[in-house]
Amino acid sequence: MPRIEISRLRQNKSLKIQAGVTVSTTKDTAALGSDIDWENIGFGIRSTDFMYVMKTDRSGEWRSGELLPFGNLELSPAAGVLNYGQGLFEGMKAYRTQDGSAVLFRPKENALRMISGAKRMCMPAPSVGDFTAAVKSTVKANVRWVPPHGKGSLYIRPLLIGSGAILGLAPAPEYSFIIYVSPVGNYFKSGLAPISLKVETFYHRAAPGGTGGVKTIGNYAPVLKTQLDAKDQGFSDVLYLDAAENKYVEEVSSCNIFTVKGNTISTPETLGTILPGITRKSIIELARDMGYKVKETAVTVEELLDADEVFCTGTAVVVNPVGSITYGDRRVTYSDGGVGKVSRALSTSLTDIQMGRSEDKFGWVEQL
Ligand code: COI
Repeated sequence: MPRIEISRLRQNKSLKIQAGVTVSTTKDTAALGSDIDWENIGFGIRSTDFMYVMKTDRSGEWRSGELLPFGNLELSPAAGVLNYGQGLFEGMKAYRTQDGSAVLFRPKENALRMISGAKRMCMPAPSVGDFTAAVKSTVKANVRWVPPHGKGSLYIRPLLIGSGAILGLAPAPEYSFIIYVSPVGNYFKSGLAPISLKVETFYHRAAPGGTGGVKTIGNYAPVLKTQLDAKDQGFSDVLYLDAAENKYVEEVSSCNIFTVKGNTISTPETLGTILPGITRKSIIELARDMGYKVKETAVTVEELLDADEVFCTGTAVVVNPVGSITYGDRRVTYSDGGVGKVSRALSTSLTDIQMGRSEDKFGWVEQL
């Protein structure tokens, strides 16, 4: 069994992790990330201890994976991912509970989403079991980077890329599954503070028949221009409309969107142009359980502007209220620009489950 020494360790302790790797650790968990200002971590990349790498052979079969010191990858300039964008990613989080352990939120959902995206992108994907074991191994090996309870989370980024060299347009001859992690705080600047969105009427994020419904890397660079322009104009982010009629709400650059009207919560249905978010799915289940009527349906811009509350969901953003939406020269403010009561209730219920503060009656939280 391969054995990895973690250098900065103080006690002699051997941590057995899954995926066939033993990490020798002398780590003193009391000294976790002592150089980090946990109150102000924000959402950015930090070098952590280990990353996970697993590659296929040329027949597409996965070899065994390994934990390597976090660092740069060696990749052919002709790699399929660099030239033709053959790549997918996932976003997940590990949370520290009040008893000091670290837990994952619905990891199998990410594994399944990667498998379905891989079919669309003509890539082999790790099985649900291999994916989950690899994520757990990676988090265990980096557990000192999981922020203290209530101070943030360890963002986990699984990547599936065509790493083999290919010149003609075709699937890459070799694939790599990589996981890296980074401790993070709030995605938008200040926690539950409401964001301001601009409805984009010219550029579109996804078109029918395209790849908007899978988490391919190519869905993200095209939204940078609109996002930067919106930020220059003082908005937090951009809300996209459907490409066919420019009339129905789709999603924000990095998260799904919900409207609240009375006791009814609506969110655009996932018909191939919207990402099937795991936080989105969880909020739908949670809201129904809390007695709201939840509709997955076409949401027009008019319905959006007429809503009592609007909020966004995503792994990175969790649940973020929307304070105002601007559509052309119309600007609508929700809940007086503050946090709406439905957004707050859903945010609290979800984060309490994720952080182990309330009963996990849905069975969403998984131990490492
Ligand atoms: C996530 O919420 O995990 C995402 O993948 C969005 C990303 C652009 C930060």
